[in-house]
Amino acid sequence: MDTNRIQIFDTTLRDGEQVPGCKLDTTQKLVIARQLELLGVDVIEAGFPISSPGDFKSVREIGLAVSEPIVCALSRAVKKDIEVAADSLKTAKRARIHTGIGTSDSHIQYKLRTTPERIIERAVDAVKYAKSFVEDVEFYAEDAGRTSNEFLAKVIQAVVNAGATVLNIPDTTGYCLPNEYGEKIAFLRANVKGIHKCVLSTHCHNDLGLATANSIAGAVGGARQIECTINGIGERAGNTALEEVVMIMRQHEGLGLYTNINSKLLLETSHLVSESMGMVVQPNKAIVGDNAFAHSSGIHQDGVIKRRDTYEIIDPAEVGVDESRIVLTARSGRAALAYRFKNLGYNVSKVQLDDLYQEFLRVADRKKEVADMDLEDMISATV
Ligand code: KIV
Ligand code: ZN
Repeated sequence: MDTNRIQIFDTTLRDGEQVPGCKLDTTQKLVIARQLELLGVDVIEAGFPISSPGDFKSVREIGLAVSEPIVCALSRAVKKDIEVAADSLKTAKRARIHTGIGTSDSHIQYKLRTTPERIIERAVDAVKYAKSFVEDVEFYAEDAGRTSNEFLAKVIQAVVNAGATVLNIPDTTGYCLPNEYGEKIAFLRANVKGIHKCVLSTHCHNDLGLATANSIAGAVGGARQIECTINGIGERAGNTALEEVVMIMRQHEGLGLYTNINSKLLLETSHLVSESMGMVVQPNKAIVGDNAFAHSSGIHQDGVIKRRDTYEIIDPAEVGVDESRIVLTARSGRAALAYRFKNLGYNVSKVQLDDLYQEFLRVADRKKEVADMDLEDMISATV
């Protein structure tokens, strides 16, 4: 594999679906999985099969439904979890078991109530057991973001020796700063023997709004897989947003990193996930929000009408958005008004425009947004 290609591991159907109220049935999951395949993701994390019979069934059916992406099932470092995950993956053409355990002091002392030595033993046993079912085994060190780099390197060394193929370094609580997270990945690359045979993976949560920045820092530090979700949905403040990391790599060619994602399907995929889960995308969400390509202030509208890239760094067509929008509000100027009249088929003179603009401002002060119908009314009133 090309060393600069970043694999996209989509966990919308697992970490994303954990969000309260976002539960999907198998049919809805299948529709999303097929769309993810079209989008070009490398891995679909299809579920956590031990968690419920429904999740088990979904993983099974997704395994049948998709051909290209690897289908991945989550488990804890528990024998029964791993057996059920392996069973659910029997239908998959390319299967991966994702197993792991908490590695931070907080998880070791308070959640697992055990010792660091026992964590390493359980991690190794889990990887070895998963390897007895499938070749491709991803290990996650839960709360790696708050785990000391030295202990993390010990755990990762042990699972590399046990045969893990992918090493997931989750910032489970969204705690890290981008430089810290990037250095963590680089530290592991420098201090774990044999790590170059494995793929290092980022898995960042967004509690401080840093999930995307941390994932990119991780990729710059040497990770070659990014775990993310459509629209950034996920536990608490969510996971890294797939659309954001993909477009950052496209916009910043200097990073030298790229993915297999067909970005023209990003908006369509975002709508599908949002509608299936009943989870509204915030209007100002980067890339896929309703306002991501909308311009409402006079200064910006004037610039965009003259040349789109004065205020837009992404061509909307690249992410599947029809065109940029000029929204008419009380902050809009004459240029935007003339532009909208022109689109409606009216070529108004400068003098007419001055009069219409005064009327427009009166309407705009009453309404949040001036619609095409309002403009038609204004024109009718002048003839
Ligand atoms: O955030 C996390 O640590 C996880 C793991 C289970 C991979 O979702
Ligand atoms: Zn997670």
